[in-house]
Amino acid sequence: MLSIAVKKRPADDPGLAPDAARLSDQLHRLSVGDKVQIEPPKGIFTPPLSGRRPVMLLAAGIGITPFVGYLEALARRQPAERAAKVLLLYGCRNGGEHAFARRLRELARLLPELELVTAYSVPCPQDRCPGDYDYAGRLDLSAIDPLLPQRPLTYLCGSPDFTTSLTTRLVERGVPRFDIFTEAFASPPPVPRTLKPQTVHIADSKKSFTWTPELGTLLDAAQAAGLPLPSGCRVGQCESCLMRIVDGNVARLGGEHDASDHCLTCQSVPLSELTLAL
Ligand code: FES
Repeated sequence: MLSIAVKKRPADDPGLAPDAARLSDQLHRLSVGDKVQIEPPKGIFTPPLSGRRPVMLLAAGIGITPFVGYLEALARRQPAERAAKVLLLYGCRNGGEHAFARRLRELARLLPELELVTAYSVPCPQDRCPGDYDYAGRLDLSAIDPLLPQRPLTYLCGSPDFTTSLTTRLVERGVPRFDIFTEAFASPPPVPRTLKPQTVHIADSKKSFTWTPELGTLLDAAQAAGLPLPSGCRVGQCESCLMRIVDGNVARLGGEHDASDHCLTCQSVPLSELTLAL
């Protein structure tokens, strides 16, 4: 069984990319029995379910989502098969934005090895401390110093600013960079509608597809054409979608032009007829 969590937002939410808002709206209109086409989970942001090293999870806002799935998976295991210790530090604005609040409290009861610390940056008058949250302010490692485990495997999920600043602070506190794993989410930059349609060929195969701005990135367009390319995070971090540019030019969305002979298809659009190789 697969579970997904999608924040409910109106289709015309000005704070979201149009595609993201439409998707949220449509998913929340689904009924039991409706069919959707989905892909299995991908990516390498996978905290260990067992082992002796402590696991430290740091989440901001809806960055809590993958960690809820992780804790649910832990809860389905026998105690002897679970990670020895898990510390979850979660920061959000207040009780109104506290995603999965009740389920997280239930999981903390089910998992004796889980320590849960919640920070509200802007608590509301009705928010209770302790009870709903543990301290007011942004996630602050010094505020929970006595809880920080020795040699943790650390996973961070939130905005790019959050993952970058917390990674810096963790490294300053002596956590080796290779023990820190991050997943940052951000709305993809819009595809300029002024770009022209292009034909994209896959080298050493007879396969090709037509890219148009409405289709999104090269990865999205290939998928829409029934030609799935390798992929993982889809946000430009894991490099699973890296392909070699045999011929032609691409632009990286929202980034400077780079003269590399490779591109991340989840972040790129073609500027000319293009041939890519795996
Ligand atoms: S799919 Fe991860 S970088 Fe493109």
